[in-house]
Amino acid sequence: MGRKDINKTNEKRFENDAERQYKSGAGDRCGNICENNCENNCENCHGEMYDFRELDDIIMQAKLIKGNLIIILQEAQRIYGYLPREVINRISERTEHTTAEIYGVATFYAQFRLKPIGKHLIMLCQGTACHVSGAQKIEKTIKEELEIEDGETTGDMLFTLNNVACLGCCSLAPVMMIKTGEEEETYGNLTPERTLEIINGLRHLEEQEPENEKEAV
Ligand code: FES
Repeated sequence: MGRKDINKTNEKRFENDAERQYKSGAGDRCGNICENNCENNCENCHGEMYDFRELDDIIMQAKLIKGNLIIILQEAQRIYGYLPREVINRISERTEHTTAEIYGVATFYAQFRLKPIGKHLIMLCQGTACHVSGAQKIEKTIKEELEIEDGETTGDMLFTLNNVACLGCCSLAPVMMIKTGEEEETYGNLTPERTLEIINGLRHLEEQEPENEKEAV
């Protein structure tokens, strides 16, 4: 291969890297074209890549709305599932809010999460009707089965447990809602046995998933 060919190959590689970074948003985020293709744990990206394009659009629109910070944080959490440090920094850079202010709001409201959650978010109702109908027994069952406390996530990132206030279907107490991606399913009249069935059903589905993916290929 001659010098010209080598230069051409390098040029092509650079274009591909730049394109990939644009798609991932990484180059936009760190402001550099990462020499490691942003796949390594470099000091700019720490191995994490965030696409900020949707967030930036939301910030632009929300700038016109009074009390916009909560709206921006809600949207950011919808996009990323939680509020990583990098996202908070980005919001601070693009608004008049300091990171301290943003953390203040994000930690004040229970709806915001600063840590990633599991694939299945278990929201266990602790409202009055559920409380008197045995929510504590259900909570104990979930905690023992998953070996986590309220607000924690299992090591395999499959389940997060969150105790929440009334879910609005008190006639079905005790109730839990499980959010998986955009889908939410409500389970009522829970017993410890039924709760275990539901959790194990989801585990079973997870085990099946790689098999289903293989079949689809
Ligand atoms: S108290 Fe649990 S759904 Fe209302």
